Amino acid sequence: MSGETAAPIVGQDHQPAAGIGAPIPRHDGRAKVTGEAKYAGEEMPPGTLHAVVAASSIARGRLTGLDTRSALAMPGVVTVLTHREMPQLGPATVLPFGQTQLPMQSPEIHYEGEPLALVLAETLEAAVEGAARLRPTYEPTQSVSFEDGREVVPRSGSEGNAAFAIMDIDVQKGEVDAAFENAAAVIDQIYRTPCRHHNTMEPSATLAEWRGDTLEVHDATQWTYGVRYGLSAVFGIPPEKVHVRCPYTGGGFGAKGTVWSHQFLAALGARISGRPVKLALTRAACFTGCGYQPMMRSHVRLAADRDGTLRAVVHETANLTSQADDYVEFGNAGARGLYATPALLARTRIVKADVSTPTAMRAPHEGPGMFALEGAMDELAVALDVDPLDLRLRNYAESDPLDGKPFSSKKLREAYIEAARRFGWSGRPRTPRAMRDGHKLLGWGMASAIMGTNRIAANARVRFAVDGAVTVEAGCQEIGNGAATVLPQVAAEVLGIPIERITLRRGDTGLPETGGTFGSSTTMCVGSAVADAAEKLKARIAALTAANGANGASGTEAAIPPERWGAILAERGVAEVVADGAFAPVGSPWDLNGGQSGYAMLSWGAVFVEMEVDEALGLARMRRCVAGYSVGRVVNPRTARSQVIGGIVWGYGRAMLEESVIDRRYGRFLSKNLSGVMLPVNADVPRDIDVFFVDEHDPHASKIGARGVGEVGEVGVAAAIANALYHATGRRIRRLPVHAEDLLA
Ligand code: MOS
Repeated sequence: MSGETAAPIVGQDHQPAAGIGAPIPRHDGRAKVTGEAKYAGEEMPPGTLHAVVAASSIARGRLTGLDTRSALAMPGVVTVLTHREMPQLGPATVLPFGQTQLPMQSPEIHYEGEPLALVLAETLEAAVEGAARLRPTYEPTQSVSFEDGREVVPRSGSEGNAAFAIMDIDVQKGEVDAAFENAAAVIDQIYRTPCRHHNTMEPSATLAEWRGDTLEVHDATQWTYGVRYGLSAVFGIPPEKVHVRCPYTGGGFGAKGTVWSHQFLAALGARISGRPVKLALTRAACFTGCGYQPMMRSHVRLAADRDGTLRAVVHETANLTSQADDYVEFGNAGARGLYATPALLARTRIVKADVSTPTAMRAPHEGPGMFALEGAMDELAVALDVDPLDLRLRNYAESDPLDGKPFSSKKLREAYIEAARRFGWSGRPRTPRAMRDGHKLLGWGMASAIMGTNRIAANARVRFAVDGAVTVEAGCQEIGNGAATVLPQVAAEVLGIPIERITLRRGDTGLPETGGTFGSSTTMCVGSAVADAAEKLKARIAALTAANGANGASGTEAAIPPERWGAILAERGVAEVVADGAFAPVGSPWDLNGGQSGYAMLSWGAVFVEMEVDEALGLARMRRCVAGYSVGRVVNPRTARSQVIGGIVWGYGRAMLEESVIDRRYGRFLSKNLSGVMLPVNADVPRDIDVFFVDEHDPHASKIGARGVGEVGEVGVAAAIANALYHATGRRIRRLPVHAEDLLA
């Protein structure tokens, strides 16, 4: 490895002070830490009613009674809505909705936490007490759990609600069975990942108000336009009559990617009461009201030659979903794209149970699935006594493993090699239990990361005013991804105007339409739309100049420095020049992994971790992590690095802490608060997380050369940790999260 040429790394030699590639600090940082940033739940127009949902405590059965009389007798309670008062709705479609089971349509109960009634009151306290007085009675039926259910093929194509089937359910290439018969080494193991919740800092919240026939909504969302489409569909009004605002979102991770019951209930409450209604979910309600990552079984089989060359990769998955919806967690997504292999099989199944519909959670699909594939690869390295990194390099895919398409850009090899060098991987003893620090065992593990490229159609507008002010407009919100910083940066680059003069207007359906802030897509897609708008703006100003040869200008863009634009506008008596731009990938409005182009498009990474294990206590900690990424062009190395560190911490949580246990007898999440669900806190996170990006420009993925950064950082971390724990202890972890008893001597 040491003989390889060093790859150029972003920021290694030079970082620009402005524009694309500049590590400028978050634009929204101060507003967030000072509390100046206003979130949906803080909106409170005069006359606002507070809404509280009374939810089912059983997973399946029938509602037999609600004491609405007692609730209505509570001073301050204005209205109680139950399934009796509810209009017949729907059908809701998945995307923009997270599930098709709309609330309060009948007394039937389909999952724990299903809304039974909506209480509207003058104060939050009255609404809470009113809801408590409802004391629902039930006729329960025994619920079905993941363990009881059987695996079925998810609906896809034109059947039913196929929106969750974002890729082919089953894919195969080559002679899989034959490969196993003749293999020198075979790995055949089951890996398990649990249900997990997004646990955003800002719980979901909606403020809804009708002004005439227009619905005004402040929502905590990842997709302003999705909320517009969802509410317009259920209320049967034109999308333009729904105005959604959300400048800031306090974390989403997928929980706010789609529309759930609360947005709809807030809007319905507002319509019925004729007043603004605020519905802010409690922490507990977030465990049943806006999705979760479903538990999954992964069956991985690998066949290889003596030198580690893969002959077959098989990854079969089965994930939990609701009775109503076929949510598919494509845990085998990584296996479809990561390694060169003559035979490949990915099979995807679901198990229906009496639960609400799961949803995407950072990083969906590849995140849980790569724990399995990269764990199996580590097991293969052990079985063949080859170095785990060498095994990856030996099976490096130079083109898409399934269809042979060229990659739009891939610099994973450079990431592997540089990360290994920084980590000191070449000094790793091959055998487990070979490294100690005092009474603690030390282990080094590595894994690959891979993440799909979601190219979503986006629009943006750039305005240049006679006073020199530049405004960038886009409907998307700032969710912590850096959009508020990065989008003006792109405009600054294209226009050649200092970023201080650029204002971003965002998070509003009154602004140009973008896709949701999900799928690691915003910088790539909205950034490209901004670049397009900025180029058009320049051309427009040039044309304005050329129109009558102002001051002898040649009319070419190069001839007109931005410092003169204001004067040109003034001379022409033009107050403002406006240009609209768009990003429209082949297959708009959405293209996954370049599927509709001639290229395979994926983001990549290499993760190396050092774990320490105290076998007397069954405790493990991450000591350090080195991770390198190939994600296309990096627009802002500082915000991108923050995103990836967040992903690594998220992956640490997946590996070591996070688990939302369902009580199988009652079909309920055992704990619906943060005292019963562990999350990483600062004390869990090592200071030594070294993140870098290989210098790259992906000319095919997007106009600005970027791919996705937001989620790839989570992928592979859990596998690298589990592999390091094997190296430390000789114990193989195939079920997450790691429990103390897995490590006890
Ligand atoms: Mo992310 S799970 O695409 O919000």
